[in-house]
Amino acid sequence: MKLQPLALSAVAFAAAIASAAHAAPQVEVLHYWTSGGEAKSAAELKKIMESKGVAWKDFAVAGGGGENAMTALKARVMAGSAPTAAQIKGPSIQEWGQEGTLANIDAAATEGKWETLLPPVVTNVMKYKGHFVAVPVNVHRVNWLYVNPAVLAKAGAKAPTNFAEFFDAADKIKKAGLVAVAHGGQPWQDATVFESVVLGVGGADFYKKSLVQLDQASLTSPTMIKAFETLARIKTYIDKDAAGRDWNLATAMVINGKAGMQFMGDWAKGEFTAAGKVPGKDFLCLAAPGTDKAFTFNIDSLAMFKVKSADDQKAQLTLANAVMSPEFQEVFNLNKGSIPVRAGVSRTKFDSCATRSMDDLAATSKGNALVPSLAHGMAVDSAKAGAIQDVIAKFMNSNMTPQAAAQALAKAAKTM
Ligand code: BGC
Repeated sequence: MKLQPLALSAVAFAAAIASAAHAAPQVEVLHYWTSGGEAKSAAELKKIMESKGVAWKDFAVAGGGGENAMTALKARVMAGSAPTAAQIKGPSIQEWGQEGTLANIDAAATEGKWETLLPPVVTNVMKYKGHFVAVPVNVHRVNWLYVNPAVLAKAGAKAPTNFAEFFDAADKIKKAGLVAVAHGGQPWQDATVFESVVLGVGGADFYKKSLVQLDQASLTSPTMIKAFETLARIKTYIDKDAAGRDWNLATAMVINGKAGMQFMGDWAKGEFTAAGKVPGKDFLCLAAPGTDKAFTFNIDSLAMFKVKSADDQKAQLTLANAVMSPEFQEVFNLNKGSIPVRAGVSRTKFDSCATRSMDDLAATSKGNALVPSLAHGMAVDSAKAGAIQDVIAKFMNSNMTPQAAAQALAKAAKTM
């Protein structure tokens, strides 16, 4: 990611006037939390900031997975009018750090005792050159399969735990005249399914070797070819209108009983919850087939940009501390489908899917089966992730063979 300096544009000029005009301290936050469940979650942060006397300027850019948001962010930063904070995560935080645009928020981390409340795997990602530049929001688990049990019952199918059972259920749902797999044909959604398939087919060690370490032999191995074969079979259970469909509309198909199952991270649970649905009764959160003993993590975070006035800097630190507060971590994650990232938040209000996620996170981090999500920017830098995502999307939208896909994947992994 390279940013070119630009002459002060009309956008920056307007933003400069707007910021000069605001009297109360304000934070402008770029995010892509625009679906029903996501918007409810973001509204909670706005409420907390307003209760602290800080005005909230929403910079929401629709588009699951955040690609549109990142494009909007780059334009604003290049125009010299970065927001206070932006939803940036994983290795991308380092990339923005290298651009020299991020603010040092060590003061908030010290005040909030972040080092004692967060594991080092998290704090390391939030720091650039030893200083905090971002605050973690939550932990999402990506390797879930959301299932409508009424659809299973109608089709005479049972909840799947492995791929054999998954395809058996999918066949039965299809026979019953319903969509077996709810999906939206967008590259990040394709990659979300793909990584769960790799984890289910190859296990956590294989996932790490291939999708994190990008080991060439693993990327072209028979196991990877098997993962693509499995993905090719999954394709046959997706309806013909999937192209371009947003993830939350795919989730709505499961909620409404039009479809049986969806591979998606637990932001999808936020949609079920927002629709008043109850886990275990109206929907099931199952580990994606064969991934019961593993956990693919996706940690949302807000990276902080350099702001000029002392008031805005103060407001920025207030935002950082608010995000780490137990109050925010509880209410945000109850709505978002994720779990708190910090220690010391009561689990009593969380549902069975969330408490399972908490337990599995603890168990997998001890047992080496905790893996970073490739599709959600946790595993590799953005250039490599983009090239890999393109290969997966091409595979989903063509007759590319699994062998050719594995070769293309290995090539993409060499992208600089
Ligand atoms: C983000 C989530 C978001 C999801 C859908 C993920 O990459 O981490 O916060 O809800 O994309 O947009």
